[in-house]
Amino acid sequence: MSARPRVWVTQPVFGDVLARLDPYFDVRVEPTVAPRGAGELREGLRDVDGALVFIPDRIDAAAIAQASRLRAIANVGVGYNNLDIAALTAAGVLATNTPDVLTETTADFAWALLLATARRVTEAERWLREGQWTTWSFELMLGRDIHASTLGILGMGRIGRAIARRARGFGMRVLYHNRSRLPPEVERECAATFVARNELFAHSDHLVLVLPYSPQTHHAVGAAELGRMKPGATLVNIARGGIVDDAALADALAAGRIAAAGLDVYENEPAVHPRLLALRNVVLTPHIASASEATRRAMVALAVDNLVAALGAGPHAGRPPN
Ligand code: DGY
Repeated sequence: MSARPRVWVTQPVFGDVLARLDPYFDVRVEPTVAPRGAGELREGLRDVDGALVFIPDRIDAAAIAQASRLRAIANVGVGYNNLDIAALTAAGVLATNTPDVLTETTADFAWALLLATARRVTEAERWLREGQWTTWSFELMLGRDIHASTLGILGMGRIGRAIARRARGFGMRVLYHNRSRLPPEVERECAATFVARNELFAHSDHLVLVLPYSPQTHHAVGAAELGRMKPGATLVNIARGGIVDDAALADALAAGRIAAAGLDVYENEPAVHPRLLALRNVVLTPHIASASEATRRAMVALAVDNLVAALGAGPHAGRPPN
């Protein structure tokens, strides 16, 4: 039997990148992309030293408890609410994520959603494809301006800051709220003003959610927050679904309380709340904010490097530190 550490990869992505695991480990890559249920994840982790997992893989305490060999989990994603960090820590299993490499791509996509939402791009396209365009009309598909409006950013980490920097080109005023206020030089660099949470909701024409999901941020945007927003405001969520109460959002959109929403993430993805699906003033995308070819490759490459380092393999393994 091989003495090499065993590694499990839950999706067959970028084979040339995953091949970089081969010199060090016995690697088993799942041959298909499919949702991995709790039982399958438990089974898959039971006999391995490490795993490379993805956002839909919910690594829970029960799976960790049975994974007696497990030493490291490399999550392909910057968000890691799919991992039970407390259980991993208690079991002495290292967990890693993929920050930085996706920052700019994800910020680009926030802008794609912002523009599409404010200017009704997908709604207009659907309408045209349905054959409804019979005459050019002056008041057709009136949207909201982006330029010279106020952009609100809830959660001012790397991605929030990258979104703010892009707002300069549109001549926007940028407000933000974050658990802790940024240092003055970073605020200056982003041309962003810190405001209290309630003020952010009250003063933003376009509000982007970029905060991490945790039990503390569950339904951070619900009926009360939506009720505080400007009539005619738009909301974009590229963070995690559970941050927004989807039913409350559907109420606010249906009532015209806010003008429109752009959503890349959902409370129970891949299921989308049926009321959101039925509304025309919502732009819906399937959790693809970081999905450029280059960035998705970079995320897997970083996760591979993380796993190699966490399991003490690789070219520098066993060397004394410099
Ligand atoms: C992340 O990295 O957390 C994204 O949501 C996955 O694309």
